[in-house]
Amino acid sequence: MALVTTKEMFAKAIGSDYAIGAFNVNNMEIIQGIVEAAQIEKAPLILQVSAGARKYAKPVYLLKLVEAAIEDTGVDVALHLDHGEDFEICKKCVDDGFTSVMIDGSKYPFEENIALTKQVVEYAHAHGVVVEAELGKLAGIEDNIKVDARSATFTDPDEAAEFVERTGVDSLAIAIGTSHGAYKFKGEPYLDFERLKKIHSLIPETPLVLHGASSVLKEFVDRCNQYGGEIPGAQGVPEDMIHEAVKYGICKVNVDTDLRLAMTAEIRRVLAENPGEFDPRKYLGPGREAITGMVQHKIRDMLNASGKM
Ligand code: G3H
Ligand code: 13P
Ligand code: ZN
Repeated sequence: MALVTTKEMFAKAIGSDYAIGAFNVNNMEIIQGIVEAAQIEKAPLILQVSAGARKYAKPVYLLKLVEAAIEDTGVDVALHLDHGEDFEICKKCVDDGFTSVMIDGSKYPFEENIALTKQVVEYAHAHGVVVEAELGKLAGIEDNIKVDARSATFTDPDEAAEFVERTGVDSLAIAIGTSHGAYKFKGEPYLDFERLKKIHSLIPETPLVLHGASSVLKEFVDRCNQYGGEIPGAQGVPEDMIHEAVKYGICKVNVDTDLRLAMTAEIRRVLAENPGEFDPRKYLGPGREAITGMVQHKIRDMLNASGKM
């Protein structure tokens, strides 16, 4: 049992109608909670670390905690850098033993994104590490941006095909209407499935990645709000839309917000119902269990995307 790359996971996923869950990790309880869920479900697992997570926990702690989780549970884990913003952070993670890195050059013009991505691919591949890149921008839902204007930032299918061909990247994150965080849509959720189908038809061998894919389940938002939270109007990607996306080449589904909501809802509940409690284990423990429950739900939902299970 070990750190593995996503190569094999994606090779299996791309021919089938299911996706691999990629979950963001920031501390011990989150890592333990996720890995336990994968162990119970016997599911392939990607753990991903953002620059913010590295800053919060320090890189060495996350690395050692992931190693400990593998040793403890025997689960195979792909360890992935999420949204690497430059060559240096990608190189650092490759050197640290990550098995996958994302270079997010989506904010740069097309040619610059290609040049940066190629540089990372060259270094990573020479070290046996796979690379995810991003083309198109994940828009927020700022009041003044209409759907038409947002879709101008979505991934262009022809550019996607050229990008993959010229960079040699292993997987591609695309923009079809999702965004990070708990406020993804105002009004009806909308994803551009026609665009996704076109991208997938042009690069059928390339695993596609859906960022901003949390579902922001009402039960957890309500529980947060019930116990003193203030997250009104939160809305995620409905799970049937995730299933639909998985039919058209989405092999990796990124989830962070749903973990945050599950853990926070449970910690809020425990503290509200036990105001005399001040032992962190008494609320972090239930928070960890809430992570396990959420990840089991996500894994089952993604493996079941085609209704095959
Ligand atoms: O892509 C965003 C992930 O949710 C990571 O968020 O940068 O706050 O760690 P973060
Ligand atoms: P969510 O905010 O929807 O969980 O997306 C997480 C993500 O895309 C991490 O890269
Ligand atoms: Zn993301």
